[in-house]
Amino acid sequence: MEKLAIQNLLSAESIRTIEEFQLFEDIDSTNAEAIRQIKAGNTANRLVLSSSQSAGRGRRGRVWQSPANAGIYLSLMRRFNLQPNALQGLSLLTAMSVKSALESIGIHGLKLKWPNDILFQEKKLAGILLELQYREKACFLVFGIGLNISLPAEIMQTIDRPVTDITSIASNIPDHNTIAATVVSHLCEKLAVYEVSGFSSFAESWNESDYYRGRDIEIQNGETRMIGKSLGVDPSGALLLQGADGVQSINGGEVFPSLREVAD
Ligand code: BTN
Repeated sequence: MEKLAIQNLLSAESIRTIEEFQLFEDIDSTNAEAIRQIKAGNTANRLVLSSSQSAGRGRRGRVWQSPANAGIYLSLMRRFNLQPNALQGLSLLTAMSVKSALESIGIHGLKLKWPNDILFQEKKLAGILLELQYREKACFLVFGIGLNISLPAEIMQTIDRPVTDITSIASNIPDHNTIAATVVSHLCEKLAVYEVSGFSSFAESWNESDYYRGRDIEIQNGETRMIGKSLGVDPSGALLLQGADGVQSINGGEVFPSLREVAD
């Protein structure tokens, strides 16, 4: 990847927001680097990109496989005036940004999985890890995005859930600079809207792309497992689960297709 090429492709809103841009050949984790910078007092809004990660981290303590030049590994660190309960909507918004960015470069058929996976035919194409850091009463958010472009087969085999990459689903894909800049641009555009009006105006669009909406699902949250039919999200981004005892709004957890019959 090339720093100048990426900079030249960023939207006006990204250029307005991003004050510092770091590009690495290799790093442990772009999220970890963004957090180190905040802790060191370097709190300028920052884009951290790397061609590979030696300790890429996923949600729930998982590893994010990040071999060299096989994907986009980036973190956008941004000061944020967080409203209570806003994290959830931001997480969904990030997934929507990746989807719309990929659509703008001709990659279609993508679906979303609450709270923030991007799927193609039920296989995971991209994941998001949102981390929050407070320093001197200010709130900093790190939007970590991992997008598979051309994962080597031997790496794919080591991942214990269905995964895919862009080269398996599309031809004539743009170079990594263009993909990275497009993802960052879409994220910055959506965050600018979100800052003014929150998640509610995005909820309908999320629901149109939610793979599991209308399907029977199970949600695992720590020790708790809930079962029901997904009704999509409410205006805050909470997942609405129709269970035997009515509709519950869910604020955290992982969605699985239900293996059991759900009572209506
Ligand atoms: C998930 O488990 O779905 C989230 C994966 C997030 C991976 C990205 S890659 C760039 C950034 N740096 C990390 O260490 N993780 C995120």
